[in-house]
Amino acid sequence: MGKDVIIACDFASAEETFEFLDRFTEEKPFVKIGMELYYAEGPSIVKEIKKRGHKIFLDLKLHDIPNTVKKSMSVLSKLDVDMTNLHAAGTVDMMKAAVEGLTREDGTRPILIAVTQLTSTSEERMQNELLINASINDTIVKYAQNTKAAGLDGVVCSPLEAGMVKDACGKEFMTVTPGVRFADGEVGDQVRVTTPEKAKEIGSDYIVVGRPITQASDPVAAYRRCVAEFVG
Ligand code: C5P
Repeated sequence: MGKDVIIACDFASAEETFEFLDRFTEEKPFVKIGMELYYAEGPSIVKEIKKRGHKIFLDLKLHDIPNTVKKSMSVLSKLDVDMTNLHAAGTVDMMKAAVEGLTREDGTRPILIAVTQLTSTSEERMQNELLINASINDTIVKYAQNTKAAGLDGVVCSPLEAGMVKDACGKEFMTVTPGVRFADGEVGDQVRVTTPEKAKEIGSDYIVVGRPITQASDPVAAYRRCVAEFVG
C-alpha cells in the first residue's frame, strides 16, 4: 500500500480547479473532488481531471438503502475513479451492496472507504442527538470493524484516531486522514489536527490536505513539503 498525499480540491468551479492544477507542471498529485465541485460541474469534472493524468478520490459519502447505493456505486465505478466513500452508519448490508455495485466485470474496483463518525460530531451530540450510548472512540472502532466485515478497504478518520483503528482492524486496513497542518501553519476551522510527519508516525496511509496547499502562496512548494514530510 503506497502512502500518498491527496489534495482536497475544494473549489467552486472547474475553471478555478484547472487554474490551480495548471501550476503542477512536474508532478500529477492525487486529488480529492468533494460534493461542492461535483454538484457544480457533474461527472465531466471527474473525466477531465482523470484525462489530465491525476488519481481521483471522489468524496460523495453515500448513505441510502442498499439497492440505491449499489446502483449509484456502479455508476461511479464507470467514471473510473481511484477511491470513493460512504457512511458506515448505513450498516454492513449497505456497505456490502456498495462493494458489489462498485466491482467491475473483471473483478477490479476503486478503493472503497467509510466515514465512521464525522469529525464535526462531538461525543456529546452523538449521545444526546443520535442516542448512541457508547463513547465516540468505541463507536469509531465498532464502525471500522463493520466496515472491515463488509469487505471495504478502510476508513476516513482523524489522524489521531488512525492508531486505534489499526490496532482494532489490522495494519493492512487503510486509514485516510484529513485534519493535517504544518507545524508552523494556520489551523483554520479544524480542531483535532496533526502534522504530516506525525500522521506518518501514527500510521495514516493517505493524508488529505486542503487549505495548507490550496491557499499557500506557493502551492507546489507546499505540496512538495507535505510529500517530503509524509512520504519521506
Ligand atoms: O482545508 P483542509 O485541509 O481542512 O481540508 C480537509 C478536507 O477534508 C476538506 O475537503 C474536508 O471537507 C475534508 N474532511 C475533513 N474532515 C472529515 C472528513 C473530510 O476535513 N472528517
